[in-house]
Amino acid sequence: MTAPTKTAIVTGGGSGIGQAIAKRLRADGYSVATLDLRPVHDDDLAFTADVTDATAVLAAHAAVREKLGPVTVLVNAAGLDGFKRFADLSFQEWQRVIDVNLHGVFHCVQSVLPDMLDAGWGRIVNISSSSAHSGQPFMAHYVSAKSAVNGLTKALALELGPAGITVNAVPPGFIDTPMLRGAEQKRLLGGSVEDHIKRTPVRRVGQPEDIAAACAFLISEEAGYITGQILGVNGGRNT
Ligand SMILES: NC(=O)c1ccc[n+]([C@@H]2O[C@H](COP(=O)([O-])OP(=O)(O)OC[C@H]3O[C@@H](n4cnc5c(N)ncnc54)[C@H](O)[C@@H]3O)[C@@H](O)[C@H]2O)c1
Repeated sequence: MTAPTKTAIVTGGGSGIGQAIAKRLRADGYSVATLDLRPVHDDDLAFTADVTDATAVLAAHAAVREKLGPVTVLVNAAGLDGFKRFADLSFQEWQRVIDVNLHGVFHCVQSVLPDMLDAGWGRIVNISSSSAHSGQPFMAHYVSAKSAVNGLTKALALELGPAGITVNAVPPGFIDTPMLRGAEQKRLLGGSVEDHIKRTPVRRVGQPEDIAAACAFLISEEAGYITGQILGVNGGRNT
């Protein structure tokens, strides 16, 4: 079966990886609405919502649906990092990072799922993190959330496959975005981006477009036999 409508929601579409994914999907012929905490001023298909707020997500989805039709593609790229020694991590800090990175995915999938079930076709791509594979000191909350996103991806793939919906995860590793540069500026990377490039097998930092390309493939018709997979895009930093 082919996609009945080409309407996508990309969360975190106001910056970095999400922004590149939205741009790529538009170039591939999708109608794309972004959903982010930060509005994108020049784009009337940019919706402002906090993914941790189920009511706000449902309202944004309803507005997208009205404007562009049922949503059959969802890319969950909204994310929040955090760096703190575990001994100093408050439960509130733990909870916010889990809320954004994991519960945000829960709310967004629950919102769009009826559209995909009605269509008998859907594509969900969750942007997790290579840190879920490698672990990362001072990021216990983030690594826990992103590991859970990988687990959720596998569980949903099995549950939703019979309904024509594929669910995959793309864990990025070291992508040049405001999130990465912010961590570099705060000296939280254990060296500069340049230092890390020397330790990256392909000898460059990843670009948001590298992640967008993987998403575009997983969303395509020809990727219909791929589900429940964790497709690392990390220049060989994790194998
Ligand atoms: N850059 C990297 O190297 C890297 C590595 C691993 C994983 N990731 C993941 O990739 C995704 C995109 O990250 P990025 O590097 O582009 O970061 P970014 O900070 O540039 O973009 C993240 C976007 O998510 C939005 N966002 C944050 N909290 C939100 C919320 N509660 N509701 C709605 N939107 C919210 C932000 O406003 C921002 O626009 C994130 O999930 C991140 O965890 C990035």
